[in-house]
Amino acid sequence: MKSDEIRIKFLEFFKNRGHKIIPSASLVPDDPTVLFTTAGMQQFKSYYTAPENAVRDFGSKNTASVQKCVRTVDIDEVGDANHLTFFEMLGNFSFGGYNRKEAITYAYDFIVKELGLEISYVTFYKGEGLVPRDEESENIWKELGIKDIREDGSDVFWGPTGDSGPCGPTTEIYCKNADGQDVEIWNIVFNEYFCDGSREKLDKGEAKLKKLDVMGIDTGMGFERLVATVQKKKDVYETDLFNNEKTREERIIADHTRAALEIIKEGVEPSNAGRGYVLRRLIRRVTLYSDRIGVKISEKFNEEETKFRKTLAIGLVEFEKGTDPFILFTTYGFPLELTLELAKDLPAQAGKGKKIDLEDFNKKMVEHQKLSQTSSAGMFKGGLANHNEKTVKLHTAHHLLLAGLQALVDKNIKQRGSNITEERLRMDFLCDHKLTDDEKKKVEDWVNEKIKDDLNIVRKEMPLKEAEKIGAEMEFGAKYPDVVSVYIVEDKNGNVISKEFCGGPHIKNTSELGTFKILKEEAVSAGVRRIKAVVL
Ligand code: SER
Repeated sequence: MKSDEIRIKFLEFFKNRGHKIIPSASLVPDDPTVLFTTAGMQQFKSYYTAPENAVRDFGSKNTASVQKCVRTVDIDEVGDANHLTFFEMLGNFSFGGYNRKEAITYAYDFIVKELGLEISYVTFYKGEGLVPRDEESENIWKELGIKDIREDGSDVFWGPTGDSGPCGPTTEIYCKNADGQDVEIWNIVFNEYFCDGSREKLDKGEAKLKKLDVMGIDTGMGFERLVATVQKKKDVYETDLFNNEKTREERIIADHTRAALEIIKEGVEPSNAGRGYVLRRLIRRVTLYSDRIGVKISEKFNEEETKFRKTLAIGLVEFEKGTDPFILFTTYGFPLELTLELAKDLPAQAGKGKKIDLEDFNKKMVEHQKLSQTSSAGMFKGGLANHNEKTVKLHTAHHLLLAGLQALVDKNIKQRGSNITEERLRMDFLCDHKLTDDEKKKVEDWVNEKIKDDLNIVRKEMPLKEAEKIGAEMEFGAKYPDVVSVYIVEDKNGNVISKEFCGGPHIKNTSELGTFKILKEEAVSAGVRRIKAVVL
C-alpha cells in the first residue's frame, strides 16, 4: 500500500463515520507560547473548552486531519530508524461527539481490519491524584481480544500544549516493525481535564486540573512510522516517503532538508531566535553533514539555481510574449517540458490559456536536427559527431578563442579548420606571424575573463543571407543551408564579442567552463597557424 493510499484510507474511514475532514493547519500556530505545530490537536485546542463551537464551525462534533508537524526536541536522535523533525500526523478528534468506547474501537478497526496490522500491545493510564486508573479503556481492549495490555504512568498522560489547555489520560497502540521491534503507532488522548499551567508546571505540582464538562478525544498517529509498519520496512527511510537513506548523515540531510523546506514555506526566515533559529540550525546541519559525506549539496543547488534563473528570467518574458515553444527551446534554452508546465500553471496570469501545439514543435525539431547535422558537419570537420559534455565545452571555448584572437592579435584572423576531441580543441587560422608569448597570454586572459563574466551563448536562426550580412564567422569552403543558426555571445555591456555560423551544440553560459589554457601554438603551412587548447 502506497503512502498516499494510506492517507486517503484514513480520511475516508473517519469521513464515513461522521467526521468532518479539516486541512492541515499552518506549521506556525496562532498560539504565541508554542514555536511550531507539534500535534494535530493544536488547531482544535479551543474546541475542547467550548465544544458548542465545533458544530458551528465544522457542522460536526467530530473532525479528522492529516497535520504537518515539527518537533525538534529529539533533533539529536534524527538519523536512527524513526526520529524525524518534520512529520505528518493522522488524527481524529471529537468535542463531545463520542467517548472511549468509540475512539478505541475506531482505532482498532482501522489498524486491524483496514490495514491488516497486528497489535503487539496497548497501554492505559494507571491513575494518579485526581485522575483515576483508566479501567474503562483496559476493559474495552479486553473485549476487543487484546492480550497484552500494559499499565503505564506519566508517559500515558497527555499534558497541555503551550501554557495551559486540555489534557488527560491516553491509551497507546504498539505494533511490531519489520525488525520485530515494538513501535508506538497511535496515541489516543481522552481530554477530560483542563490544566491551568504548562505540562512542566503540572509535573512539578504547580498547576491545577479541572474536569471538563464533555469528553474530548484527540488521537495522533505518526504517519511515517505507520507507513513503515504497513509497508513492512525496517525504518521510515525505506518507505516511499524517502529515498532509502542508509547512513546517519544521509538521513539527517534528508530529514532536515524536508523540515527546512516546510518551515520556509510558512514564511519563516533564518535568524538567531525562535523559529528562525530552528530553521538556521536545520540548514547549518544539512551543510555540516553534507560536507562530511563530501557532497556540497547547497552549493550545487545554488549554482544550478543561479544559472537557471538567468534562463528563466529571459524565457519567461518571451513566454509571456507568446514566443513559439520551438524558439523558446532553441534560442532561449527553455526546454519543452518547462513551457508545457508554464502553459498549464500560468494561463490565468498570462491571460492567454495557452495551448501548446506539440505536433508543430516536433516537426520543427526534426527540421532543426537535420539542420544541425548539416552545419555541425561543416563545423566539426572529420565527423566529430560525438557531442558529450567535454566536447560541447571545448566547442564554446573554440568560439571564444577565435573572438579573442581577433580582438587582441588581428581583427582579420579567419578560421581555416578545426578539430575537437574530449581532451582538447585544435584551431587552424590564417595569420601572418608566430604569436608572441605576450599575445598568447593576452588571448588566454581575455577568454578567461569572458568565462568569469557569466555570458550567455544565444542561438539564433536566420536566413543565410542575413547571417552573412551581420558578418557572422563562417568557415571558408564549408557548405551552409538556406537557413542557418548563428551562436552569439555578448559581453557584459551588450556588445557582441562572438558571432559564428554553427550547428552547435554549445553550453548555455560561459561560466560553465573551467580555466582556458593554450597548450601550443605552431605553424601548419605558410600563413596558417595552429593552436591547441584545453579547458581545465
Ligand atoms: N496529542 C497527542 C499526540 O500528539 C495525540 O494526538 O500524540
